[in-house]
Amino acid sequence: MTVINLPITNYQLPITNYQLPITNYQSPITNYQLPIIMTTSVKETSTHPSGDKRLKMLDATIKRHQYQQDALIEILHRASELFGYLELDLLLYIAHQLKLPPSRVYGVATFYHLFSLAPKGKHNCVVCTGTACYVKGAQAILTSLENTTKIKAGDTTPDGEISLLTARCLGACGIAPAVVFDGAVLGNQTSETVCEKVGEWQNGTK
Ligand code: FES
Repeated sequence: MTVINLPITNYQLPITNYQLPITNYQSPITNYQLPIIMTTSVKETSTHPSGDKRLKMLDATIKRHQYQQDALIEILHRASELFGYLELDLLLYIAHQLKLPPSRVYGVATFYHLFSLAPKGKHNCVVCTGTACYVKGAQAILTSLENTTKIKAGDTTPDGEISLLTARCLGACGIAPAVVFDGAVLGNQTSETVCEKVGEWQNGTK
């Protein structure tokens, strides 16, 4: 097998007039170099050129899907699992690997509310705003949480403790309104119960 490591330092996306719908985005990674590896077979390398094992695992997922562009959502899910959120550089990397326009990858990542483009906090609270939850008071719950945490949905508190997110439907409509606390779905929630839970996080008692 021949492995070619491309030390790409001035990588230019093959799109000349692409404009991300973000005008003031600042990536926390200023000298990120696309860890591009081109192989003549699907044999895995022992370490990823970037040194980041998560990228190696992401590459394995992409290879398992045989670089299929229609596997984009599965690959974004895996990336989200591995990194916790989908940073812009990561989206560009996936776009490059799948030979997709960055605008397409960015569009999919922002369309689905379970994907986050910002770092997630130590604790995550996902409020379902799907129809069943909405009619049972999800908006009031979300507003209470925003007031308690002093952040908006989609953001993380400055101390990195709590991320507040929304989802369209958790598949738990029978117990609406539903809220996910660190991966655990709780039903029949109220403003009082969710704020009590988040209060425990803020006080460090949970
Ligand atoms: S609408 Fe909230 S769980 Fe389905």
